[in-house]
Amino acid sequence: MNTPSKKNSAERVAAYDSLGPQWKELLDEERDPIAAMANFSALIKETFGWHWVGFYRVVGAELVLGPFQGPVACSRIGFGKGVCGSAWKEERTMVVPDVGQFPGHIACSPHSQSEIVVPLRDSGGRVAAVLDIDSAVLDDFGTVDVHGLETLCETLQPLFE
Ligand code: SME
Repeated sequence: MNTPSKKNSAERVAAYDSLGPQWKELLDEERDPIAAMANFSALIKETFGWHWVGFYRVVGAELVLGPFQGPVACSRIGFGKGVCGSAWKEERTMVVPDVGQFPGHIACSPHSQSEIVVPLRDSGGRVAAVLDIDSAVLDDFGTVDVHGLETLCETLQPLFE
């Protein structure tokens, strides 16, 4: 895959800038967490064209697939497993430039080359879900995405009890 990454480009900065108000409007209209995660996934997928955008919710000792946009994905991920389970365990955003180099990466699609996972906290500060994004482009996530996605994900915090 020779498509160049647009990470940290002016184009991507502008996309996050224009997303903010649009997302605020959608969130003001609907406070149900499932509905919000569904529209969040659609908005991000439509804006950036990434391969897979979606959520896994913390249910007991596992992450369970939530609203997403993209191809069929694995439905359950254990604590500390894969990139998603690691982000949950370490309670931090994880950027994986090359999923082939990440030990224990869970390959849901052969097209995924790079990945970012952002934990979402509930109102008590515990991880309630993770946002997972897969790109078909190697090394496609930079500091602009970390900042942009973490800022957007913080808006979901009040929806989780
Ligand atoms: N690659 C993820 C699994 C989820 S799919 O990418 C949608 C992981 O390693 O946790």
